[in-house]
Amino acid sequence: MINDLEELRGEAVAELNQAETEEALLSIKTRYLGRKGLLTGLLRNISQVPPEERPLFGMRSNEIKDILAEAIDKALQRMVLKKRDEALLRERIDVTLPGRAIRAGRLHPIIHVSREICEIFAGLGFSVVEGPEIELDYYNFEALNIPKDHPARDMQDTFYVEENIVLRTHTSPVQIRTMEKQKPPVRILSPGRVYRPDSDVSHTPMFHQIEGLLVDKGITFGDLKGVLTFFVRKVFGEDTAIRFRPSFFPFTEPSAEVDIRCVMCRGTGCRVCGQSGWLEILGSGMVDPEVFKNVGYDPEEISGFAFGLGLERIAMLKYGVSDIRLFFENDWRFLEQF
Ligand code: PHE
Repeated sequence: MINDLEELRGEAVAELNQAETEEALLSIKTRYLGRKGLLTGLLRNISQVPPEERPLFGMRSNEIKDILAEAIDKALQRMVLKKRDEALLRERIDVTLPGRAIRAGRLHPIIHVSREICEIFAGLGFSVVEGPEIELDYYNFEALNIPKDHPARDMQDTFYVEENIVLRTHTSPVQIRTMEKQKPPVRILSPGRVYRPDSDVSHTPMFHQIEGLLVDKGITFGDLKGVLTFFVRKVFGEDTAIRFRPSFFPFTEPSAEVDIRCVMCRGTGCRVCGQSGWLEILGSGMVDPEVFKNVGYDPEEISGFAFGLGLERIAMLKYGVSDIRLFFENDWRFLEQF
């Protein structure tokens, strides 16, 4: 019987040495020392031990119980320490590592150009106003002297929301909204998004325009030329060659398109300017008397000029960008260059 005890001890120690987890250790503890454990089981059978061996048997089994209990506790403690050391190693923070830089945001090139232009005109006394992007047909077309079914509507392909509601095709409706609310003089600039169903390397269904309007007593085409020349030279450089080319808009009379000498080839002719040496950059003209009548202004008393330009086009020429779609892909490798 004593031999059984020693054998049991040997087995228990061997198992202990193999145990690798806390759970394994705890299960060894219950298996040998628990109330229904193996050692307890042996002790319960003490009646089968010859009487003269009983004291020794009892003593030895208590000793073994203590030895095992202590060995298990030590092993458990070692396990806890080992776990902690591993965790410390795993979660170690190197406080000497340089910090991770936070990528700073910046203005989108279109917003940047828009602000630059607004600032130039602010210096001439223009203030900034905004208007809705979802617009009534009346403000986008009719009040601007573009009646329903008039061929001039073909100049601007249109997204219709409902029969009389459109996504504005230009920023010109802001002219009307402003003049309806305010008596002359008027000197405003209106940047914003506009929409036309168009898509290729130089057109996107949404793009940005800036509208300008100046109304006062005695405004002439000379004022238009002076202001726009000043503006174009501020944006593209003081030595930029400019020409005013006769054009047509239903809401201005006379109308003129403004061209600058090609910024790519300096006038010799290239792909960007279609070999003409000139780049069209904005539309303009003297406000048509019909438009003044629509807002209750007296065209005999006042006059004015208006202009509209596409911001993407200006940004493309200024920064040498050849595909307009790059502005809207939100690739920071492109955007961070500006
Ligand atoms: N609204 C015109 C366009 O989008 C541009 C323009 C504005 C022309 C003001 C003349 C005067 O094509």
